Parts: sequence; structure tokens; C-alpha cells
Amino acid sequence: MNVCVIGLGYVGYPLAELCASKGHKVYGIDLSKKKIDSILKGIDPIEGKPIQQKFEVSTDNPGFVADSDVIIICVPTPVDKLKNPDLQPVISASEYTAMNLKKKSLVVVESTINPGVMEDVVKPIFDKHNLVVGVDYFLAHCPERINPGDPKWNVSNIPRVVGGLTSKCLDKAYDFYTSILSGSVMKMSNIRTAEATKIVENTFRDINIAFVNELAKSFSFLDIDTVEVIKGASTKPFAFLAHYPSCGVGGHCIPVDPYYLIERAKTKGFDHKFLKLAREINNSMPAYTVQLLIDALNDHKLSLNGTTIGVLGLSYKADVADLRESPSLEIINLLKKKGANVITYDPYIESDASSLHGFQLKCPFIILCTNHKQFNDLDFDKIKILIDGKNMFYDQRFKFTYRGIGR
Ligand SMILES: NC(=O)c1ccc[n+]([C@@H]2O[C@H](COP(=O)([O-])OP(=O)(O)OC[C@H]3O[C@@H](n4cnc5c(N)ncnc54)[C@H](O)[C@@H]3O)[C@@H](O)[C@H]2O)c1
Repeated sequence: MNVCVIGLGYVGYPLAELCASKGHKVYGIDLSKKKIDSILKGIDPIEGKPIQQKFEVSTDNPGFVADSDVIIICVPTPVDKLKNPDLQPVISASEYTAMNLKKKSLVVVESTINPGVMEDVVKPIFDKHNLVVGVDYFLAHCPERINPGDPKWNVSNIPRVVGGLTSKCLDKAYDFYTSILSGSVMKMSNIRTAEATKIVENTFRDINIAFVNELAKSFSFLDIDTVEVIKGASTKPFAFLAHYPSCGVGGHCIPVDPYYLIERAKTKGFDHKFLKLAREINNSMPAYTVQLLIDALNDHKLSLNGTTIGVLGLSYKADVADLRESPSLEIINLLKKKGANVITYDPYIESDASSLHGFQLKCPFIILCTNHKQFNDLDFDKIKILIDGKNMFYDQRFKFTYRGIGR
């Protein structure tokens, strides 16, 4: 088959490579010239490695859509500054597809969307072009679950769920995904349940993380070590799932997706109090982390204003270069607002210091925001205060001032 992937980021790029590896003719479209240039040079735009599978790419080529039997939309679904879902990329990719679609093609949205988007936002775009769903074309949603940097679960073996606008749409999408994936594919009874499944998975994580973040704050009053408690509770072999506190929740999914459900339910008259509270707690963690530093500096009779603070690790998770929604950004913002001089270092992202050694020469007072493996090489003799936003060195005992989150 001919497959066109629209949006070649963390989700779309590995998917396009997978489709090519299965013998499909693959086209890739991405608005980012930088990504397209990288692919044309033979460099994977996500991991910076030599590409495994070649396929045709462009920033704009309607012919790619027109020549495809399957079009897969993998564009971002962010929130704006006020945390309102921004569906514009999904809308414009759908319009681009509808304008150029050949009859009988399958269109799949893999982007994370709130329940109702396929029926109320995406389908009407095709209606405008007089395309009848289930007859002229087939429309489905198969939310992606990829976990960048995960050594076990990848684009091919992660089990998936799929929903279709009609039963024919569902069957077509199911047949396509079972032909490219080694993981199982579950048919959902309607498209809304497929949309809701992905949002629920990520909201589940957000709520559980909020719970342990709140415990971290509470247990600091009660002088209880939160991490040890979670490890203790994890010895129960059923009905407990460990989540750990940290300086905040980042990435394009967990801190974003709950807003998609909150907003959708609001338009239908339901107020998701619990989800909003979880977001509020997790959003408070960067400020909580900065307060730990202020208290530690105070113990040293120092003020944050005018002091140089090292922010170690910028990406939202270990050993990846993804800065989206990273708590480090808010931590830096708060530190600067309070008059600190900030020096950053991240081995994966352009930052102030060019090496860990150079960073440590300038920064005895550190907030660690990401647990990159490289930080195991920290020279502890050079540290006066370490606020460990990821509890990376939780097990160790230090002579300098050390504060984890919840211990
Ligand atoms: N990153 C993850 O780990 C992950 C995991 C599962 C699901 N998702 C979901 O998948 C979707 C994509 O996420 P991502 O992380 O791959 O995003 P990304 O930002 O890495 O990639 C999206 C790409 O789409 C391109 N794009 C935007 N609008 C476009 C348009 N109209 N036409 C063509 N290209 C366009 C962007 O330039 C970008 O390269 C989101 O809905 C996200 O929530 C992401």
C-alpha cells in the first residue's frame, strides 16, 4: 500500500519507518523544514542517528496524499498559555488530507484527542468536501502510546486500541494496524471510546503523580520519608502501583492531555474537579522545588537574590532531548524572577555550560531537574547544596545540604 504520514515527530517518524520496513511505499509530510532537511540528509530527526528506512518526504506535497491508500495524522495537540486545547494542527492536517484525498482511502488520526473530536471536528472537514464516511473514505482513530527512550516498548510492539466512524472504517483500520504491528490491536465499539482510552491512560498517571507529590509535601511536615513509604507499599503484590514525587510533570502528554478531557466535559456540562486538582498539584511542584532551595540557602545564611544557581538537566525525562512542558523551564523562570543568576547544563539540549565539569566549576548550588545517566559522574566534593528534583541520589548520604522531593 501507499502510506502517507503527516507530522514526523516522536510519533510520526518511527511510524513512517515502521511502515517502510513492512514494504509499504511511504510518504512523509512535515511543516518543519529542519526535520525534512534532516531526513533528506539521512539523519533521523528525533534521535539524530542514521535513518534505517528511506522514504519520500516534503514540507508540502498534495500528491503524496492523493497517491496514498492510508493517511495517518500524527501532528501535535498542545494547550495554549491558558491551558486550552489547541486543535489547530489536527484541523489543518485534516483539511490538507480532505482536499487531496483519493476515494476509498483510509484516514487515521493517531494524535491524542479528546472524545468527540473525530465526530465533531475531523469528520465535518471531510463532509465539506462531499466525502461520505464509510463510503468514499474510511475514518479511524488509533491513539499512539509510544514512550520515547523505552528499551522494551516501541512503535511496533506496544498494544493498541482502534475505533472507527463506521464498522467498515473499524475493520479497515484494524486490518492495516494488525499488518504492521507485532503488538495486539483491540477493536473499540465506537470512536469515542478509542479517544477516551488514551486520555484516561495519561490522566491516570497525572492523578497518581499528583497523589504522591501531595504526599511528599505532607510527609515533610510529618518527618516521613515518602520514597521509602512508596517502596514499602510496593511490596504489596496487588492493588498498589508505585509512582514517585518529583519537581514536576513534563512532556507533550501527561501535563497536557487531562486538559483535553476537562475542557470537553465542561462543554457538556460536567466539571472534572479531581482532574483539575491533580493538574494544580503537579503544576505547583516547580515552585515547591524552588522553595526547598530558598530554605536550604537560608540555612547557609544566603539569599536566592544575587546567588548563582545551577539548573542541572533541562529535558523533562532522563536521557532524551525533549524540552516540551519540562518543569525545568518553570524552575528557571521562578529563579530568575527572584533575582538568581541561572546557569544551565544538559548533555542533550543546548545550555549555558558545555560540560558537567564546566558547570560544576561555576555552580556549588544546584537544582537537579532531570536524572540523566551522565549525572552519576557529578563531583560531590564541589557541591554545597543539591536540591534533587528527581530523587536521583535518594539512597546516598552527603556532607553537603541535600534535599529530595519528599525526603
Ligand atoms: N511524544 C510522545 O511521547 C507521544 C506519545 C503518544 C502520543 N503522542 C501524541 O501524538 C501526537 C504527536 O506528538 P509528537 O510528540 O510526535 O509531536 P512532535 O511535535 O514531536 O511532532 C509533530 C510534528 O508535526 C508537525 N506538524 C504540525 N502541524 C502540521 C501540519 N499541519 N502538517 C504537517 N506537519 C505538521 C510538526 O512540525 C512536528 O514535527 C500528539 O497528539 C501527542 O499527544 C505523543
